[in-house]
Amino acid sequence: MTPPSSRALTLEGQSPPTCRSDRMDEVRERMLEMANKAETSDKPLSWFEDLYRHSNRDRGQIPWDWNEPHPFLVEWSKENKANGRALVVGSGLGEDAAFLWERGWQVTAFDISEEAVEWARHLHQDTGIDWAVGDLLNPEQDWIGRYDLVVEVHILQAIPEEIRIRASPNLAPLLASGGTLVCIGRLADESKTEESGPPWALTWDFLNQVGEGLEEVERHSAFISEKEGNRYRAVWKKA
Ligand SMILES: C[S@@+](CC[C@H](N)C(=O)[O-])C[C@H]1O[C@@H](n2cnc3c(N)ncnc32)[C@H](O)[C@@H]1O
Repeated sequence: MTPPSSRALTLEGQSPPTCRSDRMDEVRERMLEMANKAETSDKPLSWFEDLYRHSNRDRGQIPWDWNEPHPFLVEWSKENKANGRALVVGSGLGEDAAFLWERGWQVTAFDISEEAVEWARHLHQDTGIDWAVGDLLNPEQDWIGRYDLVVEVHILQAIPEEIRIRASPNLAPLLASGGTLVCIGRLADESKTEESGPPWALTWDFLNQVGEGLEEVERHSAFISEKEGNRYRAVWKKA
């Protein structure tokens, strides 16, 4: 296995003010409660919709919302000036989609949560992004083979393993010839027992399977200031 490149962005390790971190603990606790309850039901991903609705459009209630595009996507985009058709998978509140739109991509963004899609559409109404409700487990047929760029940020790590292994093989087929797949998330420290999720940090072994049949372009990992844990960016190209 090729060792991942490891360029630490920053390692300041600053603690946020206590009251903010108390609020985040509460938000995270509520998320875990919702996710655990849904996991044993016949709709294990239904908690995403419940959580977005429960927030009453207060971004502080969405534990994964960074209110900005992911820095690894921004960094990738600076080094890769291509554009064309992009698909953002599990787009949440749409910051990555809006960033790519501003960079000149023609963007489709989908999420399993109808409320997330409507909220993102409202937040980014000055863009021409094509928003859709969709499920990576069963992507629209006319998305297959269509995209020059497919971006997945923090979604594989947010879904339980038995669903993740069924959803992840659906990413590569969305690419057009010559297209690029960018996956970003938490990287597992294989020397430690991981905490139970969500989120679940992912291993390079798992990520290798995501890119099966594609040409590996990059495996990058680094820490991000004020964010927990090591993060990866894995990039592949379709021949
Ligand atoms: C942890 S959030 C990340 C959201 C966004 N990518 C971000 O980085 O802010 C995971 C997102 O994936 C969506 N999601 C979960 N399962 C999905 C699926 N099977 N298909 C599409 N979206 C899904 C959730 O609704 C949620 O918005």
